[in-house]
Amino acid sequence: MSGHEMEKTTVTQFLIALVGALIPVLIVAFLIFKLVMGIMATHVDVEDTKAAAEEIAKRLKPVGEVAIGEAKPDTGGVVDGKKVYEGLCQACHGTGAAGAPKAGDKGAWGPRIAQGKETLFKHAIGGFTGKSGAMPAKGGNPALSDAEVKAAVEHLIGMAK
Ligand code: HEC
Repeated sequence: MSGHEMEKTTVTQFLIALVGALIPVLIVAFLIFKLVMGIMATHVDVEDTKAAAEEIAKRLKPVGEVAIGEAKPDTGGVVDGKKVYEGLCQACHGTGAAGAPKAGDKGAWGPRIAQGKETLFKHAIGGFTGKSGAMPAKGGNPALSDAEVKAAVEHLIGMAK
């Protein structure tokens, strides 16, 4: 064997060894990738389960609260607090059902308004359980935008003046 041939063999052996070494690295990288994807998928599942649980909790609410949650008033793109109120909030706040402070009742609304609008917005959007009952988040209709809920709160405040 000449020196030149020796060199060729060495290079070939080196390349084979290199490929041989890379394969397990690639396999490990692939497994880590799969693992990460798996964790992400599990995470998504958890979110879905949470959403499903909330959905079920919503459906388990007293009869009066269920149907009204589905009503999405058609405001034609314009945020109309009165329409939102009439389409949903009125169901409780119009009559005082479920312990809701009745619209236009200054005695019931005065101390609430005194908390400041931001608090009322927060409670109407995120839900709130107080001394008289439970205010569902967005009145029970998650399809409403924050702006629509705020406009409805403004309408409620206006009626109590
Ligand atoms: C299922 C009945 C129900 C519906 C529908 C409902 N509310 Fe209420 N809401 C309540 C009850 C009950 C309270 C009182 C909670 C308490 O103070 O114990 C309340 C309280 C509030 C308060 C006062 C929160 C505070 O901090 O005192 C605001 C503001 C309000 N609702 C806005 C709305 C708006 C806006 C809508 C429509 C998008 C709406 N509500 C729909 C039941 C309802």
